[in-house]
Amino acid sequence: MSTIFRLDASIRDTGSVTRAIADRLQASVVAGLGNASITRREIGLSPLPSTAWAGAVFGSHMPAEQRTSQQSEGIALAHELADELEAADAYIFAVPFYNFGVSQHFKAYVDILLAEPRFAPGKTPVVAGRPAQLITARGGGYGPGSPRYGWDHGTAWYRRVLEDIWQLELEVIECELTLAEVTPAMEGLRGLAAENLSNANASAQRNGRSLARRLAAAPVLDLAAQAR
Ligand SMILES: Cc1cc2nc3c(=O)[nH]c(=O)nc-3n(C[C@H](O)[C@H](O)[C@H](O)COP(=O)(O)O)c2cc1C
Repeated sequence: MSTIFRLDASIRDTGSVTRAIADRLQASVVAGLGNASITRREIGLSPLPSTAWAGAVFGSHMPAEQRTSQQSEGIALAHELADELEAADAYIFAVPFYNFGVSQHFKAYVDILLAEPRFAPGKTPVVAGRPAQLITARGGGYGPGSPRYGWDHGTAWYRRVLEDIWQLELEVIECELTLAEVTPAMEGLRGLAAENLSNANASAQRNGRSLARRLAAAPVLDLAAQAR
């Protein structure tokens, strides 16, 4: 049975677009496979401790018996997060855009994992080559020609980490203008927003089906072991 790892970083539960699209993608892949095990990691509503990153970074240079409790806890959390990822066959990351940049909770999650040898930059990560889906949502619009073109300082970093550092085989579903419905100044963009949402949902459905086909056909990749 395939294991799908799903991470949610939205700071809201009700009304979350990334969660709703991830639900659709998850349902589509589970339906395609017939059966799957889902591992969930919630970091938006239950953030990781902010002391864990420094603990994991500095504790890793200390003999175990000399670590502070913060360092031991940071290292234990980094192991736990790395184990979760290593055990999965495919990934769904549902991560919004906040304050013109990345989710602080996802940044904290990545920082902790980058302190763990299996996910540290500079060598083949243990998840290299495995399929992953990134779902991201933005309240405004940032495409060419829009007043804030170039202000999306989040999506490229998400891609950099997932695609280039962890070498996941990544597909990205983006949904823009999610605030149009509740923002009077964006009233004229509501039609486009609805179209964006419908396209994102269709991509989720489609990507879920193709992910299921891939998982049913292929064994889990272990490029890290092959590189050793
Ligand atoms: C605190 C906060 C800051 C946000 N900052 C931005 C922003 O800078 N630009 C933008 O386009 N949308 C911004 N948004 C809107 C979110 O990107 C949008 O609501 C998105 O749909 C959030 O994902 P979710 O629906 O899964 O919660 C912000 C939302 C919140 C709650």
